[in-house]
Amino acid sequence: MAIREIVTPPNPTLRQRAQKVHRITPEIAQLIDDLVETMRVAPGVGLAAPQIDVGLRVIVVEYAEGSEDEDAPEKPPKLYAVINPEITRTSKDRVLGNEACLSLPGYFGEVERYERVTVKGLNRHGQDFKLKAKGWLARIFQHEIDHIEGILYIDRATQVWRIEEQEDEELPAPV
Ligand code: NI
Repeated sequence: MAIREIVTPPNPTLRQRAQKVHRITPEIAQLIDDLVETMRVAPGVGLAAPQIDVGLRVIVVEYAEGSEDEDAPEKPPKLYAVINPEITRTSKDRVLGNEACLSLPGYFGEVERYERVTVKGLNRHGQDFKLKAKGWLARIFQHEIDHIEGILYIDRATQVWRIEEQEDEELPAPV
């Protein structure tokens, strides 16, 4: 495993549509391991391959469901690694929320996202992956799947702010 550099604009890979993975090779397994390690060190709760300058459709997400809700019991974080992820269903409902991105350090923005999504793809063993996500987990998946399309949250944000140090504790975990 290796910690990789997280790239920022104007790196062109961030703005390109990433390529589909056709075969799960040892290099893809290595890429997933590197994404996980880089995400944890950042620290963040999601990372997409274009963010480490690799133009492939691979994302990782690590998130404890319920951790955005103080009243809900926090569950242990779950790690998802998804190859060729796609959103196959969305709710009608959309919600506004704040997002920060590891590729845009120093900023956060308010973005409207679907409240619930169904994500399909492949896991690291090449088996079918399917997840119904809601709330923050759904938001993270939408953000990461945008990354593999070359889309950044600032393209969708209603407002973007610079992070002031004193706000740090209330900010969303970057993805
Ligand atoms: Ni991001």
